[in-house]
Amino acid sequence: MIHEYDVVIIGGGIAGLYTALTAAQRSCRVALVSKVHVTRSHSVAAQGGIAASLGNEEEDHWEWHMYDTVKGSDYLADQDATEILAKEAPEAVITLEHLGVSFSRNKQGKIEQRRFGGHTRNYGESPVKRACYVSDRTGRAIMDTLYDRCQAIGVDMFNEVFALQLLFSNNLCCGVAAYDIASGIPQVFHAKAVVLATGGCGKIFKTSSNGFSSTGDGLALALDSMIPLEDMEFVQFHPTGINGLGILISEAARAEGGILRNGLGEQFMGRYAPTLKDLAPRDIISRAILTEIKDGKGIDGKDFVHLDLQGIGKENLAQKLPEISSFIKTYLGIDPAEQLVPVAPTCHYIMGGIPTDNEGRVLADERGTTYPGLYAVGECACVSVHGANRLGCNSLIDLVVFGQRTGQNAAAYATGKNLAPLPQQAESVVVDKITSLLDSKGNEHAATLRAEMQRLMTEKCSVFRNGEELKKALDELKQLQKRYMCIGLSSKGRVFNCELEEALELANMLKTAEAIVYSALQRTESRGAHFRSDYPERNDEAWLKHTLIALTSKGMRATYKPVSTTKFTPQKRRY
Ligand code: FUM
Repeated sequence: MIHEYDVVIIGGGIAGLYTALTAAQRSCRVALVSKVHVTRSHSVAAQGGIAASLGNEEEDHWEWHMYDTVKGSDYLADQDATEILAKEAPEAVITLEHLGVSFSRNKQGKIEQRRFGGHTRNYGESPVKRACYVSDRTGRAIMDTLYDRCQAIGVDMFNEVFALQLLFSNNLCCGVAAYDIASGIPQVFHAKAVVLATGGCGKIFKTSSNGFSSTGDGLALALDSMIPLEDMEFVQFHPTGINGLGILISEAARAEGGILRNGLGEQFMGRYAPTLKDLAPRDIISRAILTEIKDGKGIDGKDFVHLDLQGIGKENLAQKLPEISSFIKTYLGIDPAEQLVPVAPTCHYIMGGIPTDNEGRVLADERGTTYPGLYAVGECACVSVHGANRLGCNSLIDLVVFGQRTGQNAAAYATGKNLAPLPQQAESVVVDKITSLLDSKGNEHAATLRAEMQRLMTEKCSVFRNGEELKKALDELKQLQKRYMCIGLSSKGRVFNCELEEALELANMLKTAEAIVYSALQRTESRGAHFRSDYPERNDEAWLKHTLIALTSKGMRATYKPVSTTKFTPQKRRY
C-alpha cells in the first residue's frame, strides 16, 4: 500500500508530535508513523520538568541556562545550538501553555518552577528553580496536549506501523518503507520530506528507565543508509532507578528535598559535589553511587543505595510527586513518606544520535553536507545540545525547541515541491525482510540473544568502562550478530506477530550497541557520561571533538568533527 504526503514523521513522541503540528500549521499534509500507539510513546515517561529560564520563582537568565548546559555537557555541546535552546526555551514553554498544557501553578498563578540537577544561578553559584512542571507527569501532559492538537489539525496517525527502510531517489530522501504490525502488510510512505523522531535505545541495557519501544530503530535506519551517528559513546545513566527494575524515580524527588544515603546512612553526595550535592549532574551522581557501592557502602553491602524522601512530607509527596509515590507503592510495596527507597543507576538517555544542523537537517559528514529531504529530531538526533552529558529537563525543551525548527524547515522544504520518484523496490524491501525471518529454519531465539546483549552492555559498557572490556564487548557483539543470522521464529503468522517484531528490534539494537561500543573504544579519555578507568582524565587537546561513526562495507569507521565553542571556553567541572 502506498501513501503520499508532504511530510512523513517516524515516531510519535513529543519531538514527532511537535514537528507534525508545526508542519501541519504550515498547510502541509502530514503523516505520523509510530511503532506503538502514539499515546504510548516513551515521552509519556518524562517526569520532573522542562527547563526554561522564565524566572517565575527567582532571578534567572538564558545565559545562565546556556552556561549550565555547556558545563553539564563537559564542554562537548555545540554552543551555537545550546544558545538557541536556552534563548528560545522561555517562549517555547509559554507556547506549550497556550496550546493547553496544564502546568502546575505557584501562588501568583504563574507556571511553577523547581530546582533540577546542574541548573544554577549566576554561573554555578547555587541551584536555581528553572524546571517548569506538571507535578511529576510533565511528559504525559505535554504528549496529551500535542496529540489532541495534531488530531484537531488533521495529522494522519499510523499507529503500530514499524519503519524498516529509508527510501532515496538520486540522493533525495523520498519516503520510508514500513510494515503494519496489525496485518503484516507492507506500507510505503512516499514523501517530500521525512523526519526521524524515533527516540532512544535504552533497551540495549539490562536495566533501563526506557519503555519497551526504545530500541534504537531510527539510529539503525540511519546506519543502514550509510548515514553516520554522532557521539554514540555518551550514554546517560540516571542515578535513581528503582533498584532491580530501573523504573525512573524523578530527579524532582531530590529537587523537592530527597537525599541519597549510603549503607552507613550518610548523605554522601557532599563528598563528590560540595556545592550542588544531590542536585549535581547525573554523570557525577551515578559514578558517586557506584563508587560508594564498590567501597562496600551500598545498603547491607549490596549494589544499591537509599533515596530518603521522608523529609518531603506526605502532603508534598502527594501533591508534587504523585506518580513516583505510586510507582514506589506499586513496585516496592512501601510508603516513601515513611520508608527509604532502594535505588541504583538506570540507563536513561543517549546523548549521541543522527547528526543534524540547527534546523533538523541530517548531516552526512564532518563537512556539514546535508541529505536533502531528511530530518531528525529529539533523542534519536544529535544537534548537539547535550554533548557528553545531558542535564535533567533539557530533553523536553530540546524536543519542543528543535521540534518547532524541524517542523518549520521540513514544511518549507516540502512546500511547492513535487514528490521525487520512488525507487522500484520500495515495497519488496519490506517483504524480503519479513519473509526471510518468517521462513528461516534457524534455531536461535531473539529473546536469548537480547538478554545476552543486555548483559554484556551492562557489564562492559555502562557507567565505568575500560579498553580491555570494550574490546571484549565488541567481539561478543559480533558473535551475537552472527548468531542473529540463524534466528528462527516459532510464530509464523503475520498478524500482531510479536516474535517477528522483537527480532526486527533486536537487529536494530545490535547495530546501535556496536556503534556505542566502537565509539567508546576509540575515545581514550573520560568526559561526561563516558568514563574510562584506563583514561580517567578529560583530554581537551586530543578529544574536544565529536565522533562520527559510520557503517561501511569494512565495518564501523570513525571520523571526527570540531565542537562549536562560541562563548564558554572549557574549564574543569566543579560542582
Ligand atoms: O528525573 C527526571 O524527571 C528526568 C528528567 C529528564 O530526563 O529530563
